[in-house]
Amino acid sequence: MEPIGLDVVAELNRLAEAAAHHSYAPYSRFYVGSAILLESGEMVSGCNVENASYRLTTCAEQNAIAAAVAKFGPGMRIRAVAVHNLNQTACQPCGACRQTIAEFAPASAVIAFPGPDGPVTCTLAELLPSAFQLGEKA
Ligand code: THU
Repeated sequence: MEPIGLDVVAELNRLAEAAAHHSYAPYSRFYVGSAILLESGEMVSGCNVENASYRLTTCAEQNAIAAAVAKFGPGMRIRAVAVHNLNQTACQPCGACRQTIAEFAPASAVIAFPGPDGPVTCTLAELLPSAFQLGEKA
């Protein structure tokens, strides 16, 4: 598979930022957007949607993935994920989002997010080296 160009990562970041402007985050006021690149070349975005009961909150990455499944079907595969927030804060995908990404992405998928010292790009394997796999033998 061809490596992902910096221009593609930049476009994903732009889409993630646009999605963050739609974030519903009245409780944390942490406005997050995510955009994913599918193997088909399509891009889909999502934002976090909070809830008064707090634990029903869904993350931007999860919502982007749900939107991609709804639009392109259960066979969709992820090549790259970008995460952005409007709070100028370092923000790696949370553990639940890493596992959700792993459901649809190879270990080599590119993950881009704001790190403590600026933008970070790494692979899913680096973020989640031991993803849970149903039925994997011990
Ligand atoms: N959040 C995301 O959308 N993605 C992450 O990977 C981490 C956290 C959201 C959830 C909640 O609405 C807010 O950020 C604060 O945790």
